[in-house]
This record gives sequence, C-alpha cells and structure tokens, in this order.
Amino acid sequence: MNVLVINGTPRKHGRTRILASHLADTYNTKYIDLSSFALPLYNGEKDQQDIKEVKQLKEMALEADGFILCTPEYHSGMSGILKNMLDFLGSDHFKNKPVALIAVAGGGKGGINALNNMRTVVRGLYGNAIPRQLVLDPVHFNTDQRMLTSDGEDLVENVVEEFKFYLETAKRLSFK
Ligand SMILES: Cc1cc2nc3c(=O)[nH]c(=O)nc-3n(C[C@H](O)[C@H](O)[C@H](O)COP(=O)(O)O)c2cc1C
Repeated sequence: MNVLVINGTPRKHGRTRILASHLADTYNTKYIDLSSFALPLYNGEKDQQDIKEVKQLKEMALEADGFILCTPEYHSGMSGILKNMLDFLGSDHFKNKPVALIAVAGGGKGGINALNNMRTVVRGLYGNAIPRQLVLDPVHFNTDQRMLTSDGEDLVENVVEEFKFYLETAKRLSFK
C-alpha cells in the first residue's frame, strides 16, 4: 500500500505508537512517528518551508495515495502534535485520497470525540475520511510487550480492509 501512517502521540512509550508501528510494519507503509519527528510548531513564516522535516512531510504526503491517522484522545480531541502536523498540509496533499481514522483512548468510553475531531479536520483538508473508524482502549494492548492483543489486531485489520477498498476505488476512478 502506498500509504502514509502517522503516529500522533508525542509519547515515546505511548499506546498510539504501538498501533502506528504495527500498521507500518504489517502493511509495509510509509511512516511518520511524531514522537521523534522534529516538526516545529507551525507559525506560517516562509522560512519554515526550508526546514528538512517540513519538506520531508510534504513530499511524503504528496506521494501517498492515502493516510492512516492514529491519535490518542487528549481532552476530547486529537493530540496537539497531530493537529500541528496537519496545519503544515493542505488540499494538495489530501484531495480525493481516502483517510482511515483510529483513536486510542483511556478506556472510559472515550475516543469518539477524537475521531469526530479528526473527521472534521480531514474534511477541511479535502480528504475522504472513510466511514469505518476505530477506538482502541488499553485492553487492546499488551503494553509490556509493546504490541496489540490479537483482538486489537483483528479490529485494526477490519479498518484496513475497508480502507483498501476505498484506495482501490480511488485508483479505478483515476482520482490518483
Ligand atoms: C492530557 C491527556 C488528556 C486525556 N484525555 C482523554 C480523553 O478526553 N478521553 C479519553 O478517553 N482518554 C483521555 N486520556 C487518556 C489517553 O487517551 C490514553 O491514556 C491513551 O492511551 C493515550 O495515548 P498514548 O498512550 O498514545 O499517549 C487523556 C490523557 C492525557 C495525557
């Protein structure tokens, strides 16, 4: 899959990072890990265009046929670091491309607000957020072993299967 997976947790030991690296490894995708990718805070100044990471992000986003955005739910929204990354991008990078959304929550019935927040922002970027979405709770992770449980893997696979359908459809319609 010519797809860009984004890890949206700033925490090196975050559960979202386990999810995102699972996706990148299992489906052999391009990957940006925002817990280590040194993106500055977007300030709209021209000189930010020359920063290596900003250029790299834009190139990778332009080349991708679609995106899988993984975020922790922080205070009922996506992480600040993910929103900051998206602020560097625009419809040039997202138009007509499928986007899969996965949130990692605290287990108290959270996660839906982060998904809705990402969906609103992706629409603003002109991306096509697919209908199937997913919240993973702590119970879906084996944090000691830094991996998803098999239930967690199955849930993720369901999202990816639908995402592949939309990638294929976009290709057939010559969007890309
Ligand atoms: C600042 C902050 C705000 C949080 N807000 C929420 C929330 O609104 N809803 C929720 O379900 N969990 C919330 N949590 C719990 C996280 O979503 C949960 O711990 C998740 O695993 C974090 O992902 P991470 O481990 O990848 O950072 C919050 C955690 C932090 C640190």
